[in-house]
Amino acid sequence: MKILFFGDVVGPLGRQGVKKYLALHKKADDIDFVIANGENATHGHGLSYKHYLELLKSGVDFVTSGNHFFNNKDAFNPKYDFSKSIRPYNFDSSCPLNGTALVSVNDIKVRITNLIGKVYMTQAQTNPFYDLDKIISSDEEKVIHIVDFHAEATAEKRCLGEYADGRVSAVIGTHTHVQTNDAKILNKGTFFMTDAGMNGAYDSVLGDIKEASMRRTISSLPAMLDVPRVGKILINGVILEFDNSTKKLINYQVINETMEGESC
Ligand SMILES: [Fe+2]
Ligand SMILES: [Fe+2]
Repeated sequence: MKILFFGDVVGPLGRQGVKKYLALHKKADDIDFVIANGENATHGHGLSYKHYLELLKSGVDFVTSGNHFFNNKDAFNPKYDFSKSIRPYNFDSSCPLNGTALVSVNDIKVRITNLIGKVYMTQAQTNPFYDLDKIISSDEEKVIHIVDFHAEATAEKRCLGEYADGRVSAVIGTHTHVQTNDAKILNKGTFFMTDAGMNGAYDSVLGDIKEASMRRTISSLPAMLDVPRVGKILINGVILEFDNSTKKLINYQVINETMEGESC
């Protein structure tokens, strides 16, 4: 079983990159299941229903999210079916959608969990460590369990990886949009990576147009951020390969490449 996880997908170039990468690799590389963090897929902030459907059509099977997910009001609209997506489990309980999901991929149970960090992330209402205990204990049989930990602080991310080592299949960090060079298998077999990175404009500040982002950062004054619509695309993620009978991780491959984008 091969599972591909994409870091934060940012704006139209990010969506285009995911679509092109999957057209080239999903079948050719025998990828069974694709997860993408979609919190920035719509103009860099949030995920509209239209773009959620676009990601699914491109070959993404499941969408995780984070602090920006609800910047787009579609997620609050009950007429839209966002059932192949989750939001951080430890958001306020009044938020729509679930924080964890159990799906069947080729008759193998795969759980996807989304948690948000406590450090510098004001949306965390409960402790992600204890929440993960609850989620793990809800499974009666061994499942492949992929955790998207949407968090800012590197130490908090590593601590959750160590806390979950041997109890989940992978703890993959998202949110910083910068891929870390620390992918590894922890002592008890769990895959860990501080941040998977982002999919979007290569020549950008975290996926946003550089100039507005710089103006805001240098002057500390508000500036309208926008996303580039032309240029090279950065593709960031990781492919995890599991043994179908033991459900143990047997291999991983970090994705960090660029491709030419078409103006969109
Ligand atoms: Fe993000
Ligand atoms: Fe985020």
